[in-house]
Amino acid sequence: MILSLDHIAIAVPDLERAIRRFADDFGLELAGTEDVVSAKTSTAFFPVPGTRIELVHPLNGTGPIVKYLEKRGGGMHHLCFSVDDIRAEMARLTGLGYRFLSEEPGVGAHESLVAFIHPKSSEGVLIELVEHTQEHP
Ligand code: CO
Repeated sequence: MILSLDHIAIAVPDLERAIRRFADDFGLELAGTEDVVSAKTSTAFFPVPGTRIELVHPLNGTGPIVKYLEKRGGGMHHLCFSVDDIRAEMARLTGLGYRFLSEEPGVGAHESLVAFIHPKSSEGVLIELVEHTQEHP
């Protein structure tokens, strides 16, 4: 079952500059940064009521965000729904014809379990599902 809009992720070419923009110009509070080695991303989280903005940047110049930035120079990268049981949701949606980028959930920020629905399954929008296993900012 989908519980909430967990976050909206924006791919940024300059993480420090984007953090300053969201903190200083937009007045949001930086909850934290985290390098997610499994996803090869550096991330920064800004909570806003009901959800969070996640800035994503390539970790050490590698990973899937590199290609995205080369193609588009930055932009809306994905949205993420939090779910109560990621394996059950993956099975349910696969049964409806959705394709996932991987068959098994991977490990995301804050040791959550994550899976991505192929954008071709959903109007060109990359959709992440997350099952949180611990408290997170
Ligand atoms: Co995400």
